[in-house]
Amino acid sequence: MSETTFTPGPDTARAYRDALGCFGTGVTVITTQTDRGPLAITVNSFSSVSLDPPLILWCPAKASLRYQAFADAEHFAVHVIGEEQQDLAVHFSRNGDDFSVLEWERNAQGQPVLPGCLARFDCRTHAQHPGGDHMIILGQVLQTTVRPGKGLMFKRGQYGGFLGAE
Ligand SMILES: Cc1cc2nc3c(=O)[nH]c(=O)nc-3n(C[C@H](O)[C@H](O)[C@H](O)COP(=O)(O)O)c2cc1C
Repeated sequence: MSETTFTPGPDTARAYRDALGCFGTGVTVITTQTDRGPLAITVNSFSSVSLDPPLILWCPAKASLRYQAFADAEHFAVHVIGEEQQDLAVHFSRNGDDFSVLEWERNAQGQPVLPGCLARFDCRTHAQHPGGDHMIILGQVLQTTVRPGKGLMFKRGQYGGFLGAE
């Protein structure tokens, strides 16, 4: 087995990203309402933080064209993507403002939400902390919706399933 050890920096950016990609995650789509309409982004930086109070986090890249809208958002919704919803994850990684591909709805906070996801966390922005070239956004979960099913996973740059994880 061949191991490589290096210091993360400009010359090793690809290798560093590949190393991070070894950590498998679920896949979420975050949505919010903007002045120009509904906006979404596919995200795997989602994490649970606190149970009491119920806090979650995710990290938008400051270089993203969608960054400012999410940094300004008072409310947002996190959708955990089901195994059979890969198309949705791919779509919103490419087009943040094209909601024409599905029948979307609004939650109690007036935020655009995607029907049929594995779980949904309706959030109010609780705090924002600097995190280098990303921002760490903490959300307080106001309401949760959940259904049975398997989650879509992401690892080493690929989408996949997780056997038995109903
Ligand atoms: C599986 C996956 C996970 C992603 N996770 C994040 C994330 O945590 N934060 C982020 O800012 N962008 C993330 N992205 C990138 C965005 O979905 C989107 O592709 C990017 O914002 C596009 O650039 P733009 O916003 O400038 O159009 C992820 C993309 C994929 C496919």
